[in-house]
Amino acid sequence: MEVVIVPDAKSGGELIAEAMAQLLRRKPEALLGVATGSTPLPIYQALTAKVRSGAVDTSRARIAQLDEYVGLPAEHPESYRSVLRREVLEPLGIGMDAFMGPDGTAEDVQAACEAYDAALAGAGGVDLQLLGIGTDGHIGFNEPCSSLASRTRIKTLTEQTRVDNARFFDGDISQVPHHVITQGIGTILEARHLVLLATGLGKADAVAATVEGPVAAVCPASALQLHPHATVVVDEGAASKLKLADYFRHTYVNKPEWQGI
Ligand code: PGA
Repeated sequence: MEVVIVPDAKSGGELIAEAMAQLLRRKPEALLGVATGSTPLPIYQALTAKVRSGAVDTSRARIAQLDEYVGLPAEHPESYRSVLRREVLEPLGIGMDAFMGPDGTAEDVQAACEAYDAALAGAGGVDLQLLGIGTDGHIGFNEPCSSLASRTRIKTLTEQTRVDNARFFDGDISQVPHHVITQGIGTILEARHLVLLATGLGKADAVAATVEGPVAAVCPASALQLHPHATVVVDEGAASKLKLADYFRHTYVNKPEWQGI
């Protein structure tokens, strides 16, 4: 696992946006797996700046969704489809015809999940998957003790995640859905490059368990240790409980030949 410690969230966003830009230059039709939440916003801002300056062309890029609430209409402002349209697709100039995601309103949720896994595979697989991490170590909405081999499926949110997400629903936890569809951990691990960004002290325990703990379903993000190309980008706060922080600092960023993630 490649662990890159950056001074702040903005530099993390720029580093990851540059990796996405390089991917799009190599493969203009790349399928980018994107995540919601507050953490990835600096990535989208940095990538948008590159699109606006002409440094990268997103006209053939494709976007895949990581997870979705069950039961929120697609047009609800907090459905992840709406959030991604607003925060990612529109700023990057990518149309909804280049977007794929699970149907959180399907009557047969299980069939919708299977259809989404099949659609991802049919699209050639995700080239680069962005991930955030929950304070409980979740990736996507794979809460602790999710099977490390899981496929896209319905999950029940923990109380902690509903509390964490209430801020998107006017602070009213009663409005936060209980159920979600999430790419499974096995599904996520099929992406060619996994890039997890974590910022702030609040993520320090989850990051330490992910990077230095055992591979264990109790910390779903620890499954990244099984992936041949996983990058964890952390600011000083999120890195503050890493025993190997100094080693990571000297392994990558300070190497003269280091070209980015
Ligand atoms: P956050 O969410 O970026 O808003 O902290 C991360 C997550 O829950 O995966």
